[in-house]
Amino acid sequence: MNVGWRRAIWGATAALCVCALSVVSVRSQAAPPGAEMAETVFQNVQVLKGIPVDEFMDTMGMFAAATTKDCTGCHSPQVLTDSRDAFAVVTPMIQRARQMVVMMNTINRTYFGGETRVTCYTCHAAKDIPEWVPNLEIQYGTPPLPNPDTLRFVSFPDDADQVNELFASYIQALGGAQAVAGMTSLVARGTYSGWDTSRSPVPVEIFARAPGQMTTLVERTEGTNSYVFDGTNFWFAGVDAAVPNYTLTYTGGNLSGARVDSQVLVAPSLIQASYDSWQVSEDFVNDELVTILQGTKEGETPVNLFFNEAGLLVRLIRWADTSVGPVPTQFDFSDYRAVSGVQRPYRWVKSWTNNQATFVIEEYQMNAAVPDARFARPEPVALR
Ligand code: HEC
Ligand code: HEC
Repeated sequence: MNVGWRRAIWGATAALCVCALSVVSVRSQAAPPGAEMAETVFQNVQVLKGIPVDEFMDTMGMFAAATTKDCTGCHSPQVLTDSRDAFAVVTPMIQRARQMVVMMNTINRTYFGGETRVTCYTCHAAKDIPEWVPNLEIQYGTPPLPNPDTLRFVSFPDDADQVNELFASYIQALGGAQAVAGMTSLVARGTYSGWDTSRSPVPVEIFARAPGQMTTLVERTEGTNSYVFDGTNFWFAGVDAAVPNYTLTYTGGNLSGARVDSQVLVAPSLIQASYDSWQVSEDFVNDELVTILQGTKEGETPVNLFFNEAGLLVRLIRWADTSVGPVPTQFDFSDYRAVSGVQRPYRWVKSWTNNQATFVIEEYQMNAAVPDARFARPEPVALR
């Protein structure tokens, strides 16, 4: 059964404004060449057809986040012991989840004009069985904090002067326009620890070149995970590949996200011009007042940049749109120190629905020669 509900108008943006909060759905641009559809790569795709493999894996992240089930909460435990083929094994929970996709699509098509307004998260909100009785503790207790990962829009109009000032103070806080312009490449070495490494630190190397290329190599004991953004394409190959011997081509918000990630690292002065417009808001991060700049661009999901009072970027949130709703990716940057006159973060935590990883940088090399070959499409890794 193919749920042919995907929006026909590619790249159109639709915002539903509910007070200061709103939800954006930007269906991914036409998938870049080399991005294969899930049903051609996996064995038993029944409802999530016609979407690229990275988007398919992001839907698994949404499923897990919404229901708080890990992969084996729905999939056969054979996935832990047998080959990755076991993900195709049908379980009662998988059948139930397939019904949920069909139900959700019907609701959105019938009542929300085909927008992905009701997602798995709308009902489940991090519970396997959604609530159905009001909770008086919540009604009369301290209201819960707003979810920082919801797409946020500001309640006041654009103020171009304020936006220019904020970007100028960011560049100033980094060390000034001249120092920032002098940064043409960098190499960072340190450690990575995530759920995929059972939280143990393993070596990580990052190579980046202005105006925006970035390769991250995570040296897992089982083999290397390579994430390569060559300025246009974003690929993944490694021991965490979705299927054996596979190089993944990222699409949509994962692809535009790689662009801003590389700019944050090596070309911060280019971020402002990479989006069509910016809006300003305020919030708190770790009890510190932050200014939020939200960048939007036709056909892309937005990016939110959180600057502290010193003008440094302390958080970045971006989204990848999937057929079951948007999933956030968040970076929390800290421990800024000067490297050749430019403040660089020595620590950041990257959180997304499939993983959370901490990067601790031990050494930066500014303007080291980084050969083109570092940004070549990574070769797939053979897996069992
Ligand atoms: C809430 C239930 C649920 C959770 C949690 C879940 N999945 Fe799935 N998964 C499904 C369903 C349903 C399908 C089939 C989709 C379809 O038929 O279109 C599927 C299919 C897959 C497939 C394709 C298998 C094939 O060859 O056909 C892979 C790979 C996969 N899931 C990986 C994962 C990973 C990795 C995780 C953990 C991050 C995960 N899933 C978490 C429900 C779930
Ligand atoms: C309109 C509300 C709604 C939406 C949207 C929704 N669900 Fe559900 N879901 C439910 C309810 C209600 C139940 C519990 C039914 C029951 O009591 O057994 C449930 C149960 C489930 C279960 C069984 C859980 C268990 O442990 O027994 C799974 C798995 C599931 N949903 C997955 C999903 C996924 C994946 C999505 C997104 C594609 C989704 N649901 C979207 C309302 C929803």
